[in-house]
Amino acid sequence: MRELQALLFFLAALVHLFFFVYNRHLLCIKEGRWKRPIHHLWLLVSVVLPFLGALVLWEVPAVHQAIGWRPGSLGAIALFVPVAGLQAFFVARAIMWLGARIVPDKPEGLLSRQAQKAGVPPVAPRLPLPFRAWETTGDLVVTRVELAVGGLAPAFDGLTIAQVSDVHYGQHLEMENYLEGVAQCVARLQPDIVVMTGDFVDRRRDIRRGVEYHSKFAGRLATLAVLGNHDYWTDPDRIRRELAKTHIVWLGGGERRVLKRAGRRLVFTGTDAPWNNQRSADWRRLIRRETGDAVVLLSHTPDNAPEAARHGASLILSGHNHGGQYCLPLLGPFVVPSRHGLRFPGGVYRVGPESTLVVSRGIGISEGGARMLCRPEICHLTLRPPAVDAMTGEVAPAVRRRILLDRRSPEEEAPKGSAWVN
Ligand SMILES: [Fe+2]
Repeated sequence: MRELQALLFFLAALVHLFFFVYNRHLLCIKEGRWKRPIHHLWLLVSVVLPFLGALVLWEVPAVHQAIGWRPGSLGAIALFVPVAGLQAFFVARAIMWLGARIVPDKPEGLLSRQAQKAGVPPVAPRLPLPFRAWETTGDLVVTRVELAVGGLAPAFDGLTIAQVSDVHYGQHLEMENYLEGVAQCVARLQPDIVVMTGDFVDRRRDIRRGVEYHSKFAGRLATLAVLGNHDYWTDPDRIRRELAKTHIVWLGGGERRVLKRAGRRLVFTGTDAPWNNQRSADWRRLIRRETGDAVVLLSHTPDNAPEAARHGASLILSGHNHGGQYCLPLLGPFVVPSRHGLRFPGGVYRVGPESTLVVSRGIGISEGGARMLCRPEICHLTLRPPAVDAMTGEVAPAVRRRILLDRRSPEEEAPKGSAWVN
């Protein structure tokens, strides 16, 4: 009996450590004010549990009394209530997370109600039958994010950006109708700026048609792009030549586009690093914050984000990780092609005191050919000036997020008084 109790403690400690290392996002350990305390608390419990197991094994009387849970035993209460409370919190959170994924939101075919309402055509199932209920290959969502951008002048309040990433055009031609639906969704959003964060195509023979497809996306003020690893593995020079024939402006060589309003500037720049034969970008040159301008950086991989944030990028827009593409209930993504492991699979992250990273889960699919519990997305961002705490002077994150896909188009007129400087 004693050995069994000790074994249970050791197993619980292992489970704790497993979640701590591999699946922090499930435990709410995300960027934000609670990250550090939760982080430390979780690690502390992982250390305490095997210690308790050892005490049980060594027959320490106080521990026996605690495990016996006799009424009135203060030691038992002091020992187990905090641990049990913490366990209950994380179990409840895991059940909610799992429930949101396995309760079918797919009355017909493979599309959720949201995607059906938006008129996104379904794609043929691609996963083997046992996993079909979890398939999300063409189940598009528009993720609307309203976020405070460090250094953004009030003149740019409300500027909207639609991010289209990782289309991988031509990889799966039977998805043509779905891709057409994606283009219509972006057109309905009427964004001020469209950004494309790489992985246009996978094969040389798709380059012309792939770029033609991407030219359907257009922002009211500009359409900007960088290339991804798959573009570099295909033919980057030819892709750039094809892009130059369209309205899409490639920023991957560190080019800058500066939007000017009411005497203030918003700088857009980009990098194709590390695939353009550069291990890392020349950050000092790339992110020059003259007169405190906000800088928006396009980078296919979010691996560049911490370095870019250190050099003053206000907002970094990335793709590449596909949200993990294949996710498991409870465990979430388990393979992410990133130097940072599972840190940035997809979502909104604070990467510096005044820097935010948005990682799009992307539109298409790469090798492996499907998405599981990982819906493709168009990110629709509304930029806000940062809210500064009057007492501390700190920039409040003020990130609000909702996911919505509908047929309504914004009614407002194209913003007046904007001019591109270069
Ligand atoms: Fe990709």
